[in-house]
Amino acid sequence: MRLTIVGSGYVGLVTGTCLANTGNKVTCLDLDSQRVQTLLGGGCPIHEPGLEELLRSNMDAGRLNFTDDPMEAYRDAQVIFICVGTPTGEDGRTDLSAVMSVADDIAEALSAALTSPHPLVVVKSTVPLGTTMAVRDRIKAGVETPFSVADNPEFLKEGDAISDFQKPDRIVCGVEDDIGREMLGELYAPYVRQGNPCLFMDIPSAEMVKYSSNAMLACRISFMNEISRLCDHHGADIAKVREGMCTDTRIGRDFLYAGLGYGGSCFPKDILAIIEMGRDAGLPTPLNEAVHDVNQAQRRWFIDRIHSVLGSDMNGLRIGVWGLAFKPRTDDIREAPSRTIVTALLDSGAEVIGYDPVAAGNFEQLETGMVRADDIYEAATDVDALVICTEWSEFRTPEFERLLGSMRQPVIFDGRNLWDPERMARLGFNYLCIGRPHHDPAVSPADTPA
Ligand SMILES: NC(=O)c1ccc[n+]([C@@H]2O[C@H](COP(=O)([O-])OP(=O)(O)OC[C@H]3O[C@@H](n4cnc5c(N)ncnc54)[C@H](O)[C@@H]3O)[C@@H](O)[C@H]2O)c1
Repeated sequence: MRLTIVGSGYVGLVTGTCLANTGNKVTCLDLDSQRVQTLLGGGCPIHEPGLEELLRSNMDAGRLNFTDDPMEAYRDAQVIFICVGTPTGEDGRTDLSAVMSVADDIAEALSAALTSPHPLVVVKSTVPLGTTMAVRDRIKAGVETPFSVADNPEFLKEGDAISDFQKPDRIVCGVEDDIGREMLGELYAPYVRQGNPCLFMDIPSAEMVKYSSNAMLACRISFMNEISRLCDHHGADIAKVREGMCTDTRIGRDFLYAGLGYGGSCFPKDILAIIEMGRDAGLPTPLNEAVHDVNQAQRRWFIDRIHSVLGSDMNGLRIGVWGLAFKPRTDDIREAPSRTIVTALLDSGAEVIGYDPVAAGNFEQLETGMVRADDIYEAATDVDALVICTEWSEFRTPEFERLLGSMRQPVIFDGRNLWDPERMARLGFNYLCIGRPHHDPAVSPADTPA
């Protein structure tokens, strides 16, 4: 099929590339000309494991192209996927301006008879209930040409996006007619050969599946964070509590880790969108409000802990930070806990030196004043404490002796519970993590009187 993918970000690029890889002819459109130039030159503007190679092979095969010209992009399109951003707007509601601007471009392309006859317009962006129908009405207002709409929410995880797209647990398609059902059914047939379902439903239900799935996962994270604070107070161990809980098959293992709370471009804004949808409907959503509040409180709790050990006036202190991305295997720093924590440290007067394997460049663009380190050891040299914000694999087995030798004080605030607290104390660290008992550090050889 001939497809147009609008928006070449995390979702658009992965969708376009994977659909090209199953034989479709795909044109990806983005307004950001620099991004398009990077892509046309064989580069990849985002860090997503496996994406760059797949982009190149599909471009070389002539199935994948990029443009910043909407009218070129819509030529002969049979299916148009809208994959633009839907951030939280200044008024707290979802900002749908990019989605609606794409709807206007599609209307223009339909009026000019650029697309193939009766194209399908698929909203893949995460949108509040009613948006897909509003997109349909907006296009229809200026156009005679027939077209259909569908909502096809995306469930990929950054860091595992290619595998999530190619081996989905399920595909959700909200359709209004047989055209949507048939075209999406054909397009996704290669991805459901293992018996994983392609679920067809009405459009509002499909829109709601996306929000309710994210809200459920965010709820589990906030739940564990709330419990972790109780564990911390009473000397219980959240890691053992988790083990005891997740062996109950009704509860399961995933999304039950205490930490710094959720971040990224999806959970924070999607929970806020649910809260706003509820307010607009006169139907309060106190559970989702609590999920959001607990998430915000978790970051403040962690910062308070740092201040309680090092003092709230941190002038003259140098703090190392490991991990800036909102989670491992991505360069995405949208709503990353590291942003709140680095800002709080700098505001308290500390000098901050931070390292991230791939997200440091994006973080530097925020111009926070943090100094960038090239590796984990540089970010731990001459520091009064080390703060862990992201659980990158390369952080898991560092040379602890080297850290002890390079830090001014062996103090670690671990927001991701990377290590065993007892072992860290034995090694000589004052190790403070989330919801796990604190052990007094063993006296390090350097401190032993001669
Ligand atoms: N990132 C994720 O992990 C993820 C997962 C599932 C769903 N989603 C949803 O998918 C949507 C896209 O998210 P994303 O993370 O890919 O966003 P993104 O910010 O990475 O990418 C959006 C792209 O759209 C482009 N764009 C904006 N307006 C445009 C227009 N009028 N025409 C053409 N291009 C335009 C931007 O330049 C940008 O490159 C959002 O609704 C998001 O909630 C994201």
